Amino acid sequence: MIPQTTEPRRSTEPRRSTEPRRPAEERRRADHGRAGHRAPTAQVAGHADAAPRPEPHDRTALRAALASATEDTVIYDLDGIGRQYAALRAELPDVAVRFAMKACPVDEVLDHLAGLGSGFDAASPQEIAQALRTGVAPELIHYGNTVKSDRNIAEAYRMGVRDFATDSLEDVAAIAEHAPGSRVFCRIATTGEGALWGLSHKFGCSPEDALRVLGAARTAGLVPSGLSVHVGSQQMTAEAWTAAIDSLAAVLETLNWRGITPTRVNLGGGLPALGVLDRSGRPLEPPLDKMFTVIREGMERLRAVNAAPLEFLLEPGRHLVADHGAIRAHVARLTSRHQLDGTRADWLYLSCGKFNGLYEMDQLQYRLEFPTHPGGQFVNAVVAGPTCDSDDAYAQEDGPVRVPHAIASGDPVWIHSCGAYATAYATRGFNGFPPLPYTCIGGSGDRGAGA
Ligand SMILES: Cc1ncc(COP(=O)(O)O)c(C=O)c1O
Repeated sequence: MIPQTTEPRRSTEPRRSTEPRRPAEERRRADHGRAGHRAPTAQVAGHADAAPRPEPHDRTALRAALASATEDTVIYDLDGIGRQYAALRAELPDVAVRFAMKACPVDEVLDHLAGLGSGFDAASPQEIAQALRTGVAPELIHYGNTVKSDRNIAEAYRMGVRDFATDSLEDVAAIAEHAPGSRVFCRIATTGEGALWGLSHKFGCSPEDALRVLGAARTAGLVPSGLSVHVGSQQMTAEAWTAAIDSLAAVLETLNWRGITPTRVNLGGGLPALGVLDRSGRPLEPPLDKMFTVIREGMERLRAVNAAPLEFLLEPGRHLVADHGAIRAHVARLTSRHQLDGTRADWLYLSCGKFNGLYEMDQLQYRLEFPTHPGGQFVNAVVAGPTCDSDDAYAQEDGPVRVPHAIASGDPVWIHSCGAYATAYATRGFNGFPPLPYTCIGGSGDRGAGA
């Protein structure tokens, strides 16, 4: 049984900054003002009835790059990603960042983040090798995937990685054999409630199992260094972190009683993107400030229950990159057809979809912009990708999208806030549609890049 946590004691850890905190929204607005520009209000298409809203980030550079693109491409704004990283560090100065590479395994993005001081959450030896190519020290890379073969573990160890996520006795035994003496952190399962993607079944163990796993790690000569959680991707509630911290506190307390004193807590990914829409096309408005407050307070609480000082880590993926990547695509066709139920439906087919850039269209809608048709008449259409696959579409029961009536085959479409899970989740050419090439702007100079 995991005991109930006691009344949280006050942490003796000093706050690094004594400046009064302003809410992030306010700071973001002030920053834009200082830079002499404002986030433009773009005519982006969302829910058929939703009024256009200001974009949540300054996308001046991204918009300029979209405007000058003449072919389909994914564009990453390295300076935007850098600003996002800085904003996260400002919110959580005591937390080390290990960027979840899976969200954007693009060399230029990784180089840029490494240059800013980020480490990496890698999920395979291949990702570890890519992370090392940025020049970061192996200590800044952890193997965050609880699923790994003996060979994967041995390769990671050979490359210098000494921090491994785990959630089972079998995995601990394999790490002890193939990465002797390494540090392990045990991932505790969360419900995933409140997230667009819950990640709740495949990974993480119960608090009781976490005690067994870390106990076995110690017996096997590993260092039971910590705990981790992931509250689910594109988490929309601050309460998810409250619940995760409750679990972490309970496990930490019991571990301490058993003479295991972790030194690290990894608070995972899950921090949301701000510029995406829900499945009905309405803006998703996650309470980011509240999330940061809950995380800061949670850290104090966890420090208070642990006998040794705790280091904190985060593995953000989408929060760092989603809003700073966009796709320039084009219209394949706008059609109007009678459906079997007798209703007439308009369909907008784009040159990219679920299999080459818009993988997340199962749970969200992206903001679309039709730069050559800013006004005029609109129709409400279902948006779909180019393949001959019915999965490659927003569900028809989801909200329709306002599409210019006069849109024609070949017209450009800008797809915003799709910088996370866009390049990596593209198939190699399903139905012959290749992954989109990408370009990076900003950083140490604009760079054309590969596919
Ligand atoms: C272990 C781990 N860490 C971090 C992430 C990144 O999550 P997000 O993009 O929601 O921040 C993921 C995503 O699947 C993950 O599996």
